[in-house]
Amino acid sequence: MTENRPTDGVVRVGLLGCGTVGSQVVRLLREHGDDWAARSGAHLELVGIAVRDTAAERDPWVPRDLLTDDAEGLVGRADVVIELIGGIEPARTLVLRALRSGATVVTGNKALLAAHGPELHAAAEAGDADLYYEAAVAGAVPVVYGLRESLAGDKITAVLGIVNGTTNYILDEMATRGLSFDQALSQAQELGYAEADPTADVDGHDAAAKAAILASLAFHTRVGIDDVPVTGIRHITAEDMAEARETGHVMKLLAVARRTVSGGTEGISVRVHPALVPAAHPLAAVHGAFNAVVVESESAGRLMFYGQGAGGAPTASAVLSDVVAAANHKVHGGHAPRESTYAELPLHGPDATAARTQVQLRLAHAPGTLAAVAGVYGEEGVSIDSVRQQRSADGVAQLTIISDVSTEAALERTVARLAEEPHVHEVISVTRVEGA
Ligand code: NDP
Ligand code: HSE
Repeated sequence: MTENRPTDGVVRVGLLGCGTVGSQVVRLLREHGDDWAARSGAHLELVGIAVRDTAAERDPWVPRDLLTDDAEGLVGRADVVIELIGGIEPARTLVLRALRSGATVVTGNKALLAAHGPELHAAAEAGDADLYYEAAVAGAVPVVYGLRESLAGDKITAVLGIVNGTTNYILDEMATRGLSFDQALSQAQELGYAEADPTADVDGHDAAAKAAILASLAFHTRVGIDDVPVTGIRHITAEDMAEARETGHVMKLLAVARRTVSGGTEGISVRVHPALVPAAHPLAAVHGAFNAVVVESESAGRLMFYGQGAGGAPTASAVLSDVVAAANHKVHGGHAPRESTYAELPLHGPDATAARTQVQLRLAHAPGTLAAVAGVYGEEGVSIDSVRQQRSADGVAQLTIISDVSTEAALERTVARLAEEPHVHEVISVTRVEGA
C-alpha cells in the first residue's frame, strides 16, 4: 500500500481519459493550479494523462509529453487518480487497482458506480482510500456533497430529480416549440447533447444509474441500477405535450426515490419515468439541458439543487472540487465519508408505492360511459382528482383522468380493467403525475 499522506507537499495526480471532461480538467489545473494549491495546501502535479490514442489531436493546453497509453503504470505512480474514461472496463479494473493501493479516486462514471458500487467501496475500505464522485450525478450540481455531507444530520423522505440533460432538452423542445420526439432528438444530437447512439439517455438508463446513486446516499441503503425500474421517453408524442399543457402540467423525465411503508415496515421505492409535473412546481421551470434535484427532508424541508448537468467545463468543476478535497486530506489528514449503508431499507414494490396517474382514454360518446369508467376507479379504491372530456365529431370522446394518490398496484389494476371495459375503445396513454 502506498503512503496515504505525501510528505513533500506535492500531490501527484494521474488523469485517465482526456475527452470532453478530462481535457477541461487539464485546462483548469493549468489555469488555476495555484489557487487549488492555496486551497488544499498541496501542489497538484499532473504526472500523466492516459488515453487510447496518444497520437490523436488534443486541445492546445494538453501537454503532449504527459500523454500515455499505459494507464496501469500511471495508476501506480499517482496519489490521486481521476477516472474520466467512462464505461465499465477498463475503468473498473483501474479504479479498483488505485483504491486497493491507497490512492484516492475521483470519478464521474455513474455507470460504473451504479453497477459496481459495493465492489468499489470495499476496495476503498481495503486500501484505506477515498472515493469521490460528485461529477457522476448532475454534472456541476453539488448534489452528491449535499446528500452525503450537508444533509447527514437530517432524514430524507424523497428525492425527485431531472438528472439527464439530453432528455430534458428533448422534452423541453417538444413542449415549448411543438417539435416531435424525432425532431427534438436530431436537434439534441446536432448540439452535441445526445450521443450518436442516444439509447442510454432516451431510454432512461443514464438517469437510472444516477437514481441508484442518489437513493443509496439519501437512504443509507445499497441501490444498484438493476433495482431501478425504468421507462424512457421514446413513446412521448407532441399530442401528449399538448394535453399536458391543457391540464396545467409539464412533462419531465424524473428520477424518483421515496421512503415507503408496507405492513408497518419502512422501505424505499426508486423509479425513473416520464411524469407530469404541475406548471407551478420548481422542476417545471427547469429548461433546456439543465438538471435539478429536489430533496425533501424531515427538518430542512424542501431543497432544490439546480445547474448544468453536463458539458466539459461544468463537469470538470465538480471533478476539481473533489480533487481539492482529496488533496486537502492527503496533506492535512482525514477522509472522505465512507459508504453508509447501515439502514438497509428493503425495496418496496407496487403494493407499497404511492403514485398518481393521468390516463387518456378514447371511448364511446354515449350514455353511461363516464359512469362505467368512474365505476372502475371506485371499485379499485382509486379516487379521481380531475376529468377532462373532449368530444370528437365521429361519436367518439377522449377522456383525460387524473387520479388522487393511490398505490401503484391499484392504479395498474384500474388501467387493466379499463382496457377491458366495453365502452372504452383504447387506453391512449398512462403517465405518472408527480410533485403535486
Ligand atoms: P469522452 O468519450 O469524451 O472521453 C473519454 C476519454 O477516455 C478519451 O480521452 C479516451 O481516449 C479515453 N479512453 C477511452 N478508453 C480508454 C482506455 N482503454 N484507456 C485509456 N483511455 C481511454 O468521455 P467524457 O469526457 O464525456 O466522459 C467521461 C466520464 O465523465 C464518463 O464516465 C461520463 O459518464 C462522465 N460524465 C460526462 C459528462 C459529460 O458532459 N460529457 C457529464 C457528467 C459525467 P482517446 O481520447 O484517445 O479516445
Ligand atoms: N448524457 C448525460 C446527460 C451526460 O445528457 O445528462 C451527463 O451525465
